Amino acid sequence: MYWTDKHVLCCTASHCAQKGANDVIALLRREVMKRGLDKEILVNNCGTIDLCDIGPNIVVYPDNVIYSGVVKADIPALVDALAAGEVLERLRLGPDTPAEANRRAFYAEAVAAPEPLPADAFAALAARHGLDEAWVGEQQRRGFVARRPAADDQPETCFPTSKARNRYGV
Ligand code: FES
Repeated sequence: MYWTDKHVLCCTASHCAQKGANDVIALLRREVMKRGLDKEILVNNCGTIDLCDIGPNIVVYPDNVIYSGVVKADIPALVDALAAGEVLERLRLGPDTPAEANRRAFYAEAVAAPEPLPADAFAALAARHGLDEAWVGEQQRRGFVARRPAADDQPETCFPTSKARNRYGV
């Protein structure tokens, strides 16, 4: 955190940007300035925080709060909450938020498999949780899923990495 009360980091990496993150941060900066809060609240953009499918995402320190799915219409209420030292609960991402609970359930099932799952079975498990192949690919790029190439007539397999196991406690 800089020498402000709060440091607000808005992800503007590709997935969040596709969903309007640059407009969100521009409005947030404007609103903070307009209300004269820029001495207390520093707003910066940042790269991915690995929650790409549910962005635009915003992290607030020292509050340890993540907001997800933030749109421009949320900014006045978000700045109200920041100014009041409160949390805007309707946007807060927590372990029991449906998207997070679903991920944890998916990874728990994948970890519970006795062997790394063949890639198609891993994709099918993800699909049962409503998570498509693009999501699995993104999780792989973010280091949550590893693939082991096919060898000796065995199929390619997929498994959650320690990053996924640690994040989701599975
Ligand atoms: S692009 Fe924003 S969390 Fe990944």
